Amino acid sequence: MEINLDQLQKLADEELNGVKDAAGLERFRVAYLGRKEGKLNAVLRSLKDLPEEERRVVGPRANALRQYLEQKIEEKVRDLESAGLSDGEGERIDVTAPAKRLSRGHLHPMTQLMQKAIVIFSSMGFGVVSGPEVETEYYNFDALNVPKDHPARDMQDTFWLDVPGLLLRTQTSPVQIRYMEKHKPPFRMIAPGKVFRNEATDATHEAQFYQLEGLMIGKDVSLANLKAILEVFYRNLLDDQKLKIRFRPSYFPFVEPGVETDLTCFKCRGKGCVVCKKTGWIEVMGAGMVHPKVLENVGIDSRQWQGFAFGGGLDRIAMIKYGIDDIRLLYNGDLRFLKQF
Ligand code: PHE
Repeated sequence: MEINLDQLQKLADEELNGVKDAAGLERFRVAYLGRKEGKLNAVLRSLKDLPEEERRVVGPRANALRQYLEQKIEEKVRDLESAGLSDGEGERIDVTAPAKRLSRGHLHPMTQLMQKAIVIFSSMGFGVVSGPEVETEYYNFDALNVPKDHPARDMQDTFWLDVPGLLLRTQTSPVQIRYMEKHKPPFRMIAPGKVFRNEATDATHEAQFYQLEGLMIGKDVSLANLKAILEVFYRNLLDDQKLKIRFRPSYFPFVEPGVETDLTCFKCRGKGCVVCKKTGWIEVMGAGMVHPKVLENVGIDSRQWQGFAFGGGLDRIAMIKYGIDDIRLLYNGDLRFLKQF
């Protein structure tokens, strides 16, 4: 019997060495420790038929072998798990296999356009600043000289928040005010960002869109400077060194004089097409000389300092540049659309 147990252990060790997966390990466990056919179990069961002295020798040895095998099986389970081979399907980790291709995203077309705009203005010495999208009525309207009864303040145009006096900014112009409160002229800066208007959405209107604000204040900064700077900006943004800027008189409460800024239609290069409604020009920005009242509102002496401000939408530029016919495509996150840029 003693010899049998030694042989059994040797056999078990050999067999266990050859076990490669969880299923093999389970077969091994049944073969040795299984209740009905387990080889060791058979020994344990036969103990009761042995003479007393023999039982006293063999019994403890058989039990020791059982504990030994149970421990070996546990170790094997851990080995298989750490090798990742325990699911019994003969799975193997092939470290030389080519990796799964990770699909790589890219920047949204609006972000690409915005970054290009930032690079161009930075090259002309403009700092880039940002302001909050949740604004106060003071910064969005009052400080900008917008009359108390101006229709832009209406519920129909402005998203008012539940907290009185708070709104989603309808323009990036409040960033001008925040900037001028903290800085002494001369300075030049741009403020790109999202703005919000409570409008019915359609192919050319969204409740949210992007604006690019600009401000330059100095001793003798003029509209002529603005024209030159905007020309450099649009020519580089749209890769066409022939584009021209045109000013038309207009009204914004925070500038005097105020202008509407037109750009040579970059779809037809001024020949006339559907985009420019056959005029050869497209309206791109509101602008003007910063109103003396606005300068006084932020404590800048309007007899010493003057300058221009401008602000315009970027979505429409993106739409014409990329041939996008519905502004809502820019915001619905459809990958079939986004992957084209
Ligand atoms: N904030 C104006 C708008 O949203 C544009 C503008 C900016 C006009 C700066 C003049 C000066 O329409």
